[in-house]
Amino acid sequence: MRCLLYSLLGFCLISTAVAAGDIYLPEPNKIGKTTLMQALEDRHSDREFVDREVDERTLSTILWAAFGVNREDGKRTIPTAKDTKDLNIYVFTKKGIWLYDADNNLLKQQSDQNQMALFQLQDYMATVPLVLVYTGSTEDYAAMHAGSAYQNVGLYTAATGMANIVRGYYDREKLSDVLHLPEGQRVIVTQAVGWKNK
Ligand SMILES: Cc1cc2nc3c(=O)[nH]c(=O)nc-3n(C[C@H](O)[C@H](O)[C@H](O)COP(=O)(O)O)c2cc1C
Repeated sequence: MRCLLYSLLGFCLISTAVAAGDIYLPEPNKIGKTTLMQALEDRHSDREFVDREVDERTLSTILWAAFGVNREDGKRTIPTAKDTKDLNIYVFTKKGIWLYDADNNLLKQQSDQNQMALFQLQDYMATVPLVLVYTGSTEDYAAMHAGSAYQNVGLYTAATGMANIVRGYYDREKLSDVLHLPEGQRVIVTQAVGWKNK
């Protein structure tokens, strides 16, 4: 009996606490309709977006491309220095802010406030439905990890006909405040993702 209690206690301690507002993402869609070479050919930045939400399956796929788990040992779609996984991805939509938990394919809610105004320093941002905010430590490697992740997302959007643009133009101080980044963490770069104005 005591053994069973200890096992249950251990399970509770290591399992992720899920709060109201957290979102278990659906499985990413890994069925590609184009080749890598074609995606490389098509990769570009967009500055026109249709005002339409990104559905959860597509979001799950975008995040998996960026930094998802692609092997049983928990390693990711991008390489990280010494396998530190020194990168976090925050998801901003009109409905709030979430932190991507790749191990559990889960979005941990950080806020239910619409903070999209933080990014609206260029006109085309007004209709962007989704912004990814890449954060990490102050080590140089963290910025390299962010670059790998945003390139994967850029190739995914090229392969699927979606729109994206990497952005260094945002209110860095306010964004860091809103995210309550712990000591030693910083915002590296952002990426707007959505639908093309076809
Ligand atoms: C780190 C980084 C920051 C960027 N910041 C912005 C930005 O704030 N606003 C913007 O309109 N484009 C931004 N861009 C997009 C570049 O302007 C764009 O990649 C460049 O003009 C080349 O165009 P292409 O991506 O279509 O090849 C940024 C790109 C990178 C890689």
